[in-house]
Amino acid sequence: LSKEDNMLYVGARETLLALNLSDISRLRRDVSAPGEKERCKTDCFNYIKILLRVNATHLYVCGTYAFSPICAYIVSHTGNFSLVRAETGEIVTEDGRSRCPFNPEYKSTAIIADGELYAGTVSNFQGNEPIIYKSLGQGSALKTENSLNWLQDPAFVGSAYIQESLPVGNPVGDDDKIYFFFSEAGKEFDFFDNTIVSRIARVCKGDKGGERVLQKKWTTFLKAQLLCSLPDDGFPFNIIQDMFVLTPSKEDWKNTVFYGVFTSQWYKGASGSSAVCSFTMDQVERAFTGRYREVNRETQQWYTYNHPVPEPRPGACVTNAVRSAGISSSLHMPDKVLNFVKDHFLMDSVIRSQPLLLKRSVRYTQIAVHRVRAARRDYDVLFIGTDEGRLHKAINVNGKMHIIEELVLFPESQPVQHIELDTDKGLLYVSSFSGLVEVAVANCSNYQSCGECVLSRDPYCAWTGRQCADVRQAPAGSHWQQDVDGADTSASCNKTTINPRMARPSSSREFLQEILQVMRFSVF
Ligand SMILES: *[C@@H]1O[C@H](CO)[C@@H](O)[C@H](O)[C@H]1NC(C)=O
Ligand SMILES: *[C@@H]1O[C@H](CO)[C@@H](O)[C@H](O)[C@H]1NC(C)=O
Ligand SMILES: *[C@@H]1O[C@H](CO)[C@@H](O)[C@H](O)[C@H]1NC(C)=O
Repeated sequence: LSKEDNMLYVGARETLLALNLSDISRLRRDVSAPGEKERCKTDCFNYIKILLRVNATHLYVCGTYAFSPICAYIVSHTGNFSLVRAETGEIVTEDGRSRCPFNPEYKSTAIIADGELYAGTVSNFQGNEPIIYKSLGQGSALKTENSLNWLQDPAFVGSAYIQESLPVGNPVGDDDKIYFFFSEAGKEFDFFDNTIVSRIARVCKGDKGGERVLQKKWTTFLKAQLLCSLPDDGFPFNIIQDMFVLTPSKEDWKNTVFYGVFTSQWYKGASGSSAVCSFTMDQVERAFTGRYREVNRETQQWYTYNHPVPEPRPGACVTNAVRSAGISSSLHMPDKVLNFVKDHFLMDSVIRSQPLLLKRSVRYTQIAVHRVRAARRDYDVLFIGTDEGRLHKAINVNGKMHIIEELVLFPESQPVQHIELDTDKGLLYVSSFSGLVEVAVANCSNYQSCGECVLSRDPYCAWTGRQCADVRQAPAGSHWQQDVDGADTSASCNKTTINPRMARPSSSREFLQEILQVMRFSVF
């Protein structure tokens, strides 16, 4: 989503598209990204897996290119875009290994922070060498240490850049961090074979690798378990499918909330249930500053490490205190600290949460969260995509989620692949394998009466006295009627306007609406 030129760039199979945000159905231009079909018969298309903005003029793109990934730059300005070519007319490409997966099915992630690309992927054709790789910067590239099994067959679902270093929010002079979200083999669980766990991992932006130990490797790679499980019997939704990182503002990184959708490796009742769990930055910080785990190399058992830890704290970023001890970068970290971090990359404490929302017989694939200022307070509105191409809109009321709307997005049932949220415009761009839909976060004019408007419990909508309107457009001091929590009797409409059939269901039940509301649809 490119605010710079009011465009939405889309990577597809063998194609790059630029959609004009003023009307996405009017396809502005596309550029072909051809594959190498001669080299093998199947799956040799070029699947675009990375498409990110580098700076005001350039995008970076990577594709699988017949199982030999390549990357290239795109010049884009005022809606014109083209692959960067040499004077001879040839497209200038770079080796995409360690940035882009070989296999289009492989779950990878990538993010650009400060002009540098951070990718979670695999570095070989067989797909058994996972890697978190930093490149495109001034310094040398950095990667995870493969021989130490920092990653165990991961399936990446996302990454996030948290700017902590802004002086307003960080008196200790801590560094910015890049977070990665994935599921992987949970080697610390020896009682079950093939137990999958969900993880959050992080590295520091200023990491330069070690001088002697961990040369050109991360010196700040740490990971912890994310556990979304039922309160009564502890049933785990152990496979993360997507994570949305809600940071209220750059200055307010401490109040970041991590919203994840999870499914389970096991069945409980109906198959294919999903859960939404949220984790706070506070919980995450506590895990990463707590105790480490250690593996016994002979028995492969994991234990809590209860012995003294070398100084400065292994895996932590360089802070003011570390700088004042004469260590200005990871290159100057003592060998004993770096040797420790090689084996102590897993945190002891588990970051736990109970499902905010539990849905049977539905597989959630994607999530986006919008914090909206309603009439009385802020609400986090969740937009959750399903594997059948539906979108659930849910709100958190007194610790319980309610689905307030369900939309059918695509003419055929196909999984939601991605959700992009434009918070300024209040629009969502939701894609599947073959189409993309623009959906407004709310459509208050659908509610014709005061009763419908108030009972919708939609935090975006309120009754002005004459119509149902978007609260974000309310003039200061206006008294529009809204009752999102379902508790406020003063918000009840004039009784005669309430249609009895629209009466609210008992508060514990979900208030569901099925509206086919496809606004603009673009088929690739
Ligand atoms: C943007 O990035 C491209 C590719 O790295 C580079 O050639 C170009 O000079 C950069 N432009 C600016 C304005 O920094
Ligand atoms: C996008 O569409 C709007 C409205 O049709 C138009 O004014 C604008 O020039 C277009 N932008 C580009 C980059 O084509
Ligand atoms: C886009 O590129 C084409 C061909 O290079 C050129 O004719 C056109 O003027 C460009 N449009 C803009 C808005 O820069």
